[in-house]
Order: sequence, then C-alpha cells, then structure tokens
Amino acid sequence: MNIVSTPLESVPPYSILAEDVYVNFTLISPSGSILTPTLLSNIKKYQLESLNIWVDEKKDSSPPPAALTRKTQLEQMKQSSDFKEFKQNYTSTLSSFQQNMYALVNDPSHQQEVINSIVEESLHYSELHTSEEYNALDMIICMKEFDDSTFSHSLNVSLICEAFGSWLNMSKENIELLRLAGLLHDIGKLTIDKDIITKPGKLLDHEFNEIKKHPLAGYQILKNTDLDVRIHYAALQHHEKIDGSGYPFGIKEKQIHYISKIVSIVDVYEAMTATRCYRKPMCPFKVLQIMRHDATTKYDLNLIATFFSGITSTYINKSVELSDGSKGVVKYTAKSEFDKPTIVCFNGKIIHMKEHPELYIKELI
Ligand SMILES: [Fe+2]
Repeated sequence: MNIVSTPLESVPPYSILAEDVYVNFTLISPSGSILTPTLLSNIKKYQLESLNIWVDEKKDSSPPPAALTRKTQLEQMKQSSDFKEFKQNYTSTLSSFQQNMYALVNDPSHQQEVINSIVEESLHYSELHTSEEYNALDMIICMKEFDDSTFSHSLNVSLICEAFGSWLNMSKENIELLRLAGLLHDIGKLTIDKDIITKPGKLLDHEFNEIKKHPLAGYQILKNTDLDVRIHYAALQHHEKIDGSGYPFGIKEKQIHYISKIVSIVDVYEAMTATRCYRKPMCPFKVLQIMRHDATTKYDLNLIATFFSGITSTYINKSVELSDGSKGVVKYTAKSEFDKPTIVCFNGKIIHMKEHPELYIKELI
C-alpha cells in the first residue's frame, strides 16, 4: 500500500484516507476514514484539490462485488486457474522434497548429493506462485485443507520466509539462504516416532520430551553438509525463545542467530494456521493476536513488528467474517492495531474494529 496524492475528482469511493484533512485548522476527516460517497461529496464542498489516499498498487479499492455474498473469495480463489496450477506444482514439488528429506535422513553416504538437489529445486520455488492476482500466502491458505504434513509445513515456512526476507529488505542471497533454512528447519522430525509427531491433541510429558529432540537431531544431520552454518543453526535454534523459555538449550536473545529468530516466527505462525485432525485452521488474525501477546518476551521485537505489518498487508482486500456474523472486506489496518482493521461490509456498513473491542475476525471467507 502506498500513499498517493489523488485529485479529488478521481478519488475512488471507499478509498482510505491516508492523512487528516483540515480546513481552516478544523479537522474535517481523520486519517484512516473510508471515503464513502457521502463523505466524498461533503469534502468536495470545501473545494480541496486533492487528497492523500492509500492505494494498493495491485488491486483497486472499489467495494467488493455483490457476487461475493454468493460465492466466497476463498471459493473463487480455489476455483481459479492460478490456484489449480499452483496446487499441481505444489504437489509435485512436495513429493520430490519428501523423497529428498527421507534420503537425507536415511542415506548418509549421499547426503551432499541430496542437499545439492534440494538447493537446486528450492531455487525454483518462486515459480510456484506466479499469479498476478494472488500472492504465495493466499495460495498457502487455500492449500491447507488439502495437505498439512511436516513436509507441507516446511515448504510453507520456506515460502513465507521468502516473503519475510523481502519485507526485511534482505539481499537476494540472504533470501535464498532463509528459504533453505525454512525448508530444512524441521528435518530432525523425521527421526522422531511418527505416532508422536502425528498424535492428535495434547502430548504427554515423555512424548513432548521426544519431540524436543528434533532440533538437535536436525542439526546433526545438516552439520555434515556444506550448507551455510546459519542453516544448521536454524534447525538447532528454531524453538529457542528470546527470554530463554525455548528448547533444546534455553538460550537467550543474543545467543540465538538472526536467521533462527526469523524462522522461529514463521514456524509458529505457519503451525498455528495449519489444520490439525482435532481442529480447523486458525484464522491468521487470531494467530497474530496470540503471537502479539508473546511478542515482547518470545520474539525479536523488530522482527515481529515487520512480520505483523507484512502479514496484515497481505490481507488488505480479503473477505472476512466477524464474530457477530458481519461479512465484508478488510480495507485498512493501522500499524499499532493490525488485528483491528476497518471492514467495509457487503451491506455497505463500515466497521472500525478498534472501536469495537468485543469484535474479532472469525475467519477468512
Ligand atoms: Fe520444529
């Protein structure tokens, strides 16, 4: 989203105002207001020449088509040729990745060859999502009902890491490294009893102790390869937390590598938005709310702030259902209150969620 100075006559209805509008030192309309046709005609009375509005370069800001009330945006996306193509590419990539992961764990004599093949294939992951209309995060949300194994989790973490790297303005080389770190971070899980990994519901203490072995197991597999050591460390440290409450070593802030801190954020977000046999995927806004609760103690503050703003920006113009049953489109999120956006409902009503603490986004529709 960019701020664009737009001649008043050309401002599309339902755009978001990016700056307070004052006339003779009197506030006419605050930043963040939705420019409804009524508000626009009121503003026109003051004979202003232009307004600063938020513009999403990829998408227009017109109200949602009425058809959305019959067929949801998610349904439309799933039926699009872009998604069908993504699903096909994703499934074949996943199958090849799965074979490579097993070979890496079970065939130590060929580890380097397998790593070379994983690195080579990961270079083409960007081609998985070539849609103009939908980004990788949209596609991942749609894929969740089809597949949610350790392998798809790793592939999703890798794709989200790539987006996160760009939000952090990382170099192309570092984004590639980050993508690989995300892809391989959970490889140690393949050494853990599958019944424990796939067990629905809460784990018993001894089962959780087994799970806790996977970061070290992953590190031991990867350390024999010529991959960058930061990738080895991401496998080892992706469950460590800034306050020392993580595992396997309970190390703190400065002892955790930067790349590991990034992967740990994406790992939690991806896992919480995943389907489990005992629950549906959690709404991304709910996940961000939960992560915000832990933001100051568990995660690097600068990183989590960039992550929140990057993720929420991908939900602008997405259709959602609120806890009171209202349905509409996310139009604007303030940086400080990303989980309380402004919603333009399909019936034309505008809901500023920050004025309704009781409301939350129930799901994407
Ligand atoms: Fe893990």
